[in-house]
Amino acid sequence: MKELFDEKHKKALEKARDRKLEIYQKIDGVRQIDDELAKTGLKVYAEALKKQSAVPLEDRIALLREENLNLQHARADLLTAAGYPADYTKPDFECKKCSDTGYVGIDPCDCLISALRRESYETSGLGALLKYQDFDNFDISMYPEKSRRMMKFIYEEAKKFAENFGNTDVNGNLLFYGGTGLGKTHLSSAIGKRLIDRGFYVVYDTALNIMHAFEKERFSKTDVQTSTDRYFECDLLIIDDLGSEFMSSFTHAMLYDIINTRLISGKGTIISTNLSSTEAIKKTYDERIVSRIVGRFRSFCFEGEDIRLITRKQNLNEKNKR
Ligand SMILES: Nc1ncnc2c1ncn2[C@@H]1O[C@H](COP(=O)(O)OP(=O)(O)O)[C@@H](O)[C@H]1O
Ligand SMILES: [Mg+2]
Ligand SMILES: [Zn+2]
Repeated sequence: MKELFDEKHKKALEKARDRKLEIYQKIDGVRQIDDELAKTGLKVYAEALKKQSAVPLEDRIALLREENLNLQHARADLLTAAGYPADYTKPDFECKKCSDTGYVGIDPCDCLISALRRESYETSGLGALLKYQDFDNFDISMYPEKSRRMMKFIYEEAKKFAENFGNTDVNGNLLFYGGTGLGKTHLSSAIGKRLIDRGFYVVYDTALNIMHAFEKERFSKTDVQTSTDRYFECDLLIIDDLGSEFMSSFTHAMLYDIINTRLISGKGTIISTNLSSTEAIKKTYDERIVSRIVGRFRSFCFEGEDIRLITRKQNLNEKNKR
């Protein structure tokens, strides 16, 4: 990221320098004005050092300032008369606050913070999901009347989880279960986004992808630092769609390893599964995993009707009306 900013900063300066040379060639007098302007600092210094003078220092400096302003005006006039914008040779930084250095003094500039955030969005694996799945567009009225109370409760708890994350040594764990299209992925990515914005290291992946990553690693001969490390290291891991993949004893062991290691180090994990009850989870998974999950995860049962189908119906109705 630092290289990116240095490069941007350097490019803007180089472009300004090229434009200056262009102006010097095309317009007489600008170079002389610039030479004169460059001496302003020295002139002020010289005045300050003068021991005796009838005119007080402030007045002499005010005079210099006026002279400087006149030169700047004259320069701008020359440029505009030749058909250039007055600020043609000024470096055109994307961010005026930090001149594309990424820092204002020693503090990181907002532009650097949001660049880092964008990068985290990409590497988190949430990518596109973040564009349309956050707390703000999570709509309780999408659920049938009788499920709204429950879903509102889950929504509030998810929000609290995201706000309180990192405040204690042990970050909580959530288990979202229930049928498809009920907002489990939506709410998980809303939490993920909030935590990235709060500066946490978040990784999202489907259980299937996680299993594949371990399989791939197992059968590849290279022993370079592997991509599965991030599942252990991140502050929050979101394991989506657990239960839809085929589990071998190897993948079972890997899953247990991830969950267990994260529990021991107090890192947060969110698991979503389409299995619709803890009983079903027990049938599908190894006893060890289940007892780990059931004991240490707060479980939430999502209810309602598949929201994908509801929105599809709504879209059809809209079309028919037209
Ligand atoms: N409460 C909600 N408000 C608005 N959109 C929702 C809500 N719940 C789900 N959706 C949308 O419906 C679709 C399916 O939701 P998703 O979270 O993928 O369901 P699940 O993971 O439970 O199968 C997604 O496009 C999601 O953004
Ligand atoms: Mg889902
Ligand atoms: Zn900036």
